[in-house]
Amino acid sequence: MTSSFRHIVVLTGAGISRESGLHTFRDLDGIWAQVRLEDVCTPEAFERDPAGVHAFYNARRAQLADVAPNDAHRALAALEAAVTDGRLGADASLLVVTQNIDDLHERAGTRSLLHMHGELRRVRCNSCGATPAWDGPADGRTPCPACGRTTLRPDVVWFGEVPMHMDRIGEALGRCDLFVSIGTSGTVYPAAGFCEFAGRHARTVELNLEPTPGRTAFDEQQAGPATVLVPRFVSDLLDGR
Ligand code: APR
Repeated sequence: MTSSFRHIVVLTGAGISRESGLHTFRDLDGIWAQVRLEDVCTPEAFERDPAGVHAFYNARRAQLADVAPNDAHRALAALEAAVTDGRLGADASLLVVTQNIDDLHERAGTRSLLHMHGELRRVRCNSCGATPAWDGPADGRTPCPACGRTTLRPDVVWFGEVPMHMDRIGEALGRCDLFVSIGTSGTVYPAAGFCEFAGRHARTVELNLEPTPGRTAFDEQQAGPATVLVPRFVSDLLDGR
């Protein structure tokens, strides 16, 4: 007997990558406790100090070589494989929407994936708009592989900019019957509003190290590390529990 759910949307945040060794943003040892987001995560910061902003993202990009997906990422990839194999029904669907800019979901095998805040492993040319995959460092002297101009920026969404893929995300949220939020503090919109929107017609579940305060919109909140909660949730879902 498998799950009665057919269309699943999963939202992930920095908490799903914490046990892979990547820091979250707002925990006590978080990134925003080390550096001011106003200095590295706004268009104004890039205008003011492009080299400093590039250096911030170059360091985080380099860190990806030292980390690997964890059991939570792998459990979501296994869920996608089960959906693809028809185990939740011929017309079932799964979409993972991540706020993370790391590549751990891809490396775990997830393909049905949208990075609403962009990707560390891409840069974007402010002149021609190209968004080439990028592994090494980039800065104001790096030529765009497409147009040759030295106008590359990290291909990430900064505060004050419009998140990516919102049309496809809104469509998936509108038709889902299960919404699962994993490892996010629910403090940044529009992602913070997904639960309430989906909750009008879907079951909503939060899997987080601790229940995020005030997030009473969830039908269910499970507290614990993602590497424990997510594999168990996926197993229960596939067993129809
Ligand atoms: N397992 C599950 N959840 C965890 C774990 C873990 N091992 N460790 C931490 N968490 C939870 C924390 O309790 C917190 O609720 O993950 C959440 C991380 O919250 P944030 O640090 O705010 O990260 P996130 O929600 O992804 O931030 C959203 O803010 O700064 C912007 O663009 C940035 O995408 C980011 C957005």
